[in-house]
Amino acid sequence: MTIDLEPIAPLFLGQHVAQIQEDDARARIHALTTVLEYHRKLYHEDDAAVMPDRTYDLLFRELELLEARFPALADPASPTQHVGGQAVSHLAPFVHRTRMLSLSNAFSERDLQDWEAKWDEKGRCTGGIRAYLDREGVSHDDVFTYSVEPKLDGLAMELVYEEGQFVRAGTRGDGETGEDVTHNMRTVATIPMRLPDDAPSYLTVRGEVIFTLRGFQEMNARRTNEGQPAFKNPRNAAAGTVRQLDPAVARRRPLVFFAHSAGDGFEDLNDQASIVARLRSYGFLVTDQTRQVRGMEQVIEAVASLGASRSELAYEIDGAVIKVSQTSLQRALGMVTRSPRWAIAYKYPPPMERTRLERVDFSVGRTGVVTPVAVMQPVQVGGVTVTHATLHNEHQLLRKPSYLGGLRIGDLIEVTRAGDVIPRVEAVVDEPDRGGRLAVRFPTTCPECDAALSRELNAKDHEKVLHRCSNRLTCPAQLRAALRHFVSRGAMDIEGLGEKLIDQLVDAGLVSSPADLYSLTADQLLTLERMGALKARNVLSAIEGSKTRPLPRCLVGLGIPEVGEATARDLAEALGSIDALLGAEEAELICIPNVGDAVARAIYTFMHDPRFNEEIARLRAAGVLFPDTPIASESDRAAPLRGATFVLTGTLPNWTRQEAKAAIEDAGGKVSGSVSSKTSYLVAGASAGSKLAKANKLGIPVLSEDELRALLG
Ligand code: IVH
Repeated sequence: MTIDLEPIAPLFLGQHVAQIQEDDARARIHALTTVLEYHRKLYHEDDAAVMPDRTYDLLFRELELLEARFPALADPASPTQHVGGQAVSHLAPFVHRTRMLSLSNAFSERDLQDWEAKWDEKGRCTGGIRAYLDREGVSHDDVFTYSVEPKLDGLAMELVYEEGQFVRAGTRGDGETGEDVTHNMRTVATIPMRLPDDAPSYLTVRGEVIFTLRGFQEMNARRTNEGQPAFKNPRNAAAGTVRQLDPAVARRRPLVFFAHSAGDGFEDLNDQASIVARLRSYGFLVTDQTRQVRGMEQVIEAVASLGASRSELAYEIDGAVIKVSQTSLQRALGMVTRSPRWAIAYKYPPPMERTRLERVDFSVGRTGVVTPVAVMQPVQVGGVTVTHATLHNEHQLLRKPSYLGGLRIGDLIEVTRAGDVIPRVEAVVDEPDRGGRLAVRFPTTCPECDAALSRELNAKDHEKVLHRCSNRLTCPAQLRAALRHFVSRGAMDIEGLGEKLIDQLVDAGLVSSPADLYSLTADQLLTLERMGALKARNVLSAIEGSKTRPLPRCLVGLGIPEVGEATARDLAEALGSIDALLGAEEAELICIPNVGDAVARAIYTFMHDPRFNEEIARLRAAGVLFPDTPIASESDRAAPLRGATFVLTGTLPNWTRQEAKAAIEDAGGKVSGSVSSKTSYLVAGASAGSKLAKANKLGIPVLSEDELRALLG
């Protein structure tokens, strides 16, 4: 999903919400609800967050404020109305005896002050928890204290102890029902399996499961050694590990549990400090950064000092949690929809550092697209040294408002890591002498081969102008990238032909197109550095072996713009041969499932470019078979759902998801995980949620299980 929602800076949020007109508010609430719901699901149910947490939090806050101002416009499906993620099916459900809450967020000192008390012009306290306690007639004045704690960035967890024994563990889920992950929590060394004898007979403890930064790095180093992909960030890795079915996976990974809250069985205690002390005495790990303070001023100071020591902590935190310490006041304050009134999370802005822009490089990719890359003086951002950041496209480079009219060499820039991973140039600092600096210009010719650059619209996103080197066949940068692509796993899969060897072959002038690979000789290879007879033989036999690759892989290897593995398969299945593809009209291509106008045009143009025509002919002459793929029209009859894409949601009366999926696929249909305009049918069962709403919105037909069976014949 693309979002065109820009989060509004905390400073202007209140103003924006106060001024917006009802019609705009309706549209905005709708957009926020859809986008947030989509990203909430990615985060909680698929462990695949793509939106930076801060963006999510700011948009969420805006939605909360808008809904507060226009209660009638609030969507019942709004993510503000439920906690976190809904339980996903493959693990057993875990029902919380006491609901597990979430926290509302504060982004500024002002938000924290308002949470405690709001004052009117006459100096009366009209809002916040102080006013609430006043109204309830609970005396508080200065009796209450606050607990300020790190907000650990992991996965919320409840542990259950019966008769002093650890018996169960569950994730938060929607607050009422989560997933049972007892099998995995048993492997966590910091979770006591037995409590001291004086522990109550039923006790629940709440806390966060995380990886420490060190544990995370060691685990990733091990994975890289074993040839497995490294995890992107500790939070996703923890969430993914906790939800594994096989506990052997969790056992190999250094999960840590930090306890931060009492569940049931702590009713005799009066405040958070004693709760923490008891948790510790029971053998739980608690953070040593928790501070008990009095008054908002001290809260703000404690929050700031925790923020300042953030980079020295052994684990990632994304904020501070401030709790009213006294349990009697907590009870009096109670809760709102999804969170307690007595606690709030202060979210730190993502780490942002300043450095100088040294230059902008323009790198040329496989299809000739030129991408600007900011090269900066090395700077530590959230524990990682950053030297390069992709700027994506010309629009970004020149028109992003926070770049103040375009980057200039020597600019002081602010760098973050988006989603805490990918470095990003956020903004340029306005300095008085900026005008004298050299403005960065997008080149008009290819930085590698000097050929003219063409400007074109990105096929998928018309906002983005792409610059492409027109020298498709002999630009050395494109050639290197095209060869790397040609030999890669998803394409011709030629083992032993790595990046270094490709560079050597190109530099030595031995290869100037993929077809040249097939006429390489052992003698030629032996002229290269670090090349022995054995290696040369292996490379040549790998090249020879690639001649019989199936048609879809050959199509991937050609590097046709817009054609990845899935489209290549669709093309091969629909047309059956390379000759049919070469002869296909644009209109014919558009009729192929999953091929849209832009993709059809790209394929057609490619196939009719004499240079690629010739390249294909040379590959065939060299012995690459481009084997025909059966289109077998009789199979079409056996495949009534060919070309249709289905999405399954909710619980079907008779079929499991797996069974329904298998039946659809046997009939030639496809099953996809998310609803889009390309979806042909949504099959909905009981308790279908956001997918159903989306399908209705897009006007996609919705089928019951029976209707699906009818379609299947
Ligand atoms: S207190 C009702 N304390 O943040 C009280 N939560 O955004 C809620 N979290 O669900 C929990 N560190 O998973 C509390 N020191 C801390 C925390 C903490 C992290 C998590 C927790 C909660 C989420 C809310």
